[in-house]
Amino acid sequence: MTTVRDLRAKAGEEPITMLTAYDAVTASLVDAAGVDIVLVGDSMGNAVMGYDSTLPVTVDEVASRTGAVARGTEDALVVADMPFLSVGVDRADAVEHCGRMLKEENAHAVKVESGPHTVSLTERLTDLGVPVMAHVGLTPQQVHQTGYARQGVEKERAREIAELAREHEEAGAFACVLEHIPANLAAGITEKLSIPTIGIGAGPECDGQVLVFTDAVGLSEGSPPFAEAFGDVRGEMEAALDSYVEAVEDGEFPGPEHSRTVDELDELY
Ligand code: KIV
Repeated sequence: MTTVRDLRAKAGEEPITMLTAYDAVTASLVDAAGVDIVLVGDSMGNAVMGYDSTLPVTVDEVASRTGAVARGTEDALVVADMPFLSVGVDRADAVEHCGRMLKEENAHAVKVESGPHTVSLTERLTDLGVPVMAHVGLTPQQVHQTGYARQGVEKERAREIAELAREHEEAGAFACVLEHIPANLAAGITEKLSIPTIGIGAGPECDGQVLVFTDAVGLSEGSPPFAEAFGDVRGEMEAALDSYVEAVEDGEFPGPEHSRTVDELDELY
């Protein structure tokens, strides 16, 4: 089992790998590939639940999928992503929602989209034994404020992002996702922080990289400009489904090898 301590030791020595997964089958494939961290991202909203954004995703949905991912994972660190408004409204509720992911669903840590309101929460959760991954730069739960545009392009905003990352490190976060920011800003933040940075659309100089599973394997219909498809799973699935429909329609499936008869039943009809 990977721990947050292992990840901190790996940072700067070898690149850290992280991918999302939302079910046990996918998690077992991701885990078997040797990925260090499986993130049960609230990206499930767009990636597999048919929503236009991550905002509708609920605590119950993340909890149920975190349990499935944890059941499919042997070695990787399982991180549950806290959905919109599950933290930041009421402190006791936030602690309960995050704690539930570890107590009931076997996550090892939570990820919280970071803002000034999550600094003291990060400290509290860390004190209580809930490891927290911070997330700065583009935070998709703020879509109605920022859209999905690259963040930190202007100096002042770049400084804010770097400062937020530093405050979360100080509050006890064990790692920090840097999303869709200029590569030189990400490199500077990585240099300054002692915790690992995990980049997505943040250039090559982060301590690790993360992608959404469906983007990485070529299953998504549309991906962000910084993503890369390392396969054509969509094409493979389409071909398999066409073959299935054709085989049934042509009467080729099921064949004799898929069917059994019981002689005594012949006289019944
Ligand atoms: O929800 C998610 O998948 C994420 C990653 C893109 C970092 O937050």
